[in-house]
Amino acid sequence: MTVQENVRPALSSKAREMMEQLNSDAGKSHVWVRTQMNAPAQRPWFTDTGGQSGAGTMAMGRVAANQMKSAAHRWRWKEYSQYLNRIAGIASAADVSPIEFADRQSILLTNPGLNGRLQVTNTIRCAISIYNPGDIAPAHVHSPNASRTILSDKGGYTNVEGERCEANRGDIILTPNGTWHDHGNEAGAPVIWIDMLDWPLMEFLDCAWVDQEFKPGSGSNAKSQETVHPDGYSGSLYGNGGLIPTFVSHQRGWGQQPNPYVHYRGAEIRAALERLRKQAGDPHEGIQMQLVNPVTGKPVFPTLNYQAQLLRPGEETLPKRETCGTFIVVIEGKGKSEIGGQTFDWEPNDIMVVPNFIWRNHINTGSSDAILYTVSDSALLNQIGQYRAQGKGKDGKVIQLVQ
Ligand SMILES: [Fe+2]
Repeated sequence: MTVQENVRPALSSKAREMMEQLNSDAGKSHVWVRTQMNAPAQRPWFTDTGGQSGAGTMAMGRVAANQMKSAAHRWRWKEYSQYLNRIAGIASAADVSPIEFADRQSILLTNPGLNGRLQVTNTIRCAISIYNPGDIAPAHVHSPNASRTILSDKGGYTNVEGERCEANRGDIILTPNGTWHDHGNEAGAPVIWIDMLDWPLMEFLDCAWVDQEFKPGSGSNAKSQETVHPDGYSGSLYGNGGLIPTFVSHQRGWGQQPNPYVHYRGAEIRAALERLRKQAGDPHEGIQMQLVNPVTGKPVFPTLNYQAQLLRPGEETLPKRETCGTFIVVIEGKGKSEIGGQTFDWEPNDIMVVPNFIWRNHINTGSSDAILYTVSDSALLNQIGQYRAQGKGKDGKVIQLVQ
C-alpha cells in the first residue's frame, strides 16, 4: 500500500471546511478551534532547526488580529518631523493650544506589524513631543517607566520630584515608576524630544496607573512642581563614577529598586564613548556603554535597558540577534543597518526598530563618528531568564553569545 492510497482528498477537504465552520461558530462562545487554516497561529515561535515552524507567520483566521509580531522599520526624521512642525504651527496660531485639549503635542510611532497599536515593539511605546515656548505639560505620575531623549540642541525641562532637569541634545531624562513629573519650555524656540515608555507592557500586565491631580486635597492646582533641587542634583549625588552617597534615601517614586539618577547628560555619554574610542570594542556592537542604575549596577529600569554606542568611520559590526525588541535612535552620523534582510540607511534623528531575534548589523558609512542610542526590553527578558543572544563570526558561523 502506498501513502497515496491512504489520502482521501474529498473527505479531508470537507473535513477542513467543516472545521473552519466549527471554529467560526465557536467564536460566539469565546472558544477557538484548531484548524488547518489557523494552524500557524499555534506556532509563532522561533526555531534554529527548521521543521514545523510558523517562524512568525501570522494566522489567517480571527486569531491573526491579536497576534503580536513587530516588524523591522525605520522612521525618517525628514518625514516624521514634518508632522511635529505642523502641530507646532497649529499651536502657535490657535486660540486654544493642542496641548490643552489633547494633553500633549506629540506623535506616536506605530509598528507596521502591530496592527495599529500605539507601540513600536511588543513592550515599548514611543512618542515624539514638541513643546512651543511657554507650553507646560502639567504634573502627573504613572506606573509605566518613561524617559525623554532630547533631540533639540537645548531648551525645555523636565521636573522630576522637584529636581529641575534642563534639557540638552543627547540627554536622557528618566521618570521612573511613580515619580511625579512635569515638562515645559521656557526657551525661545520649540523643543523636540522622544518619549520612551514600557507602557504597552504595563497595560498587558494590567498594571498601568495614572494620577494627574498634583497634591490632591491640598488646594494646590499648580501645573508645575516647585523646584526643590537645582539642575544637576541627581548628577551631583550619583554621577561620580562608582561612588554613591550614604546620607540620602535612594527611593524615588513607587516600587522596588527605582533609579534615583534621573538625568544622564548627552555630553557626558559622548565624552565617555570618546575616551574609549581607541579600544577594540565589541565586534557586534563597536564601542558600546550601558547606562546603569548607580545604586544597583543594573539596567536603568527593571524593564528597559539603555545603551549608547560609537561606530567609528567605516566601522561595520558583525551580525547579531537577541531575544529582545530594540529601539534605535541616531544621535550622530550616517550609515546603514541591515535588519532581517532589509537595508535601512540612516542619518541623525532617524529611528529604527529591530524585532526580537532578527539578525542585524550596522555600518558607519560616513567620514565622521556615528552615535546610536538603543532602548530594549533585554532588561526584562534577562530578569525572567529568557535573554539569549547569537552573533556571527567573520566566517559567517553562528556563535552563541549568551546561552
Ligand atoms: Fe508622563
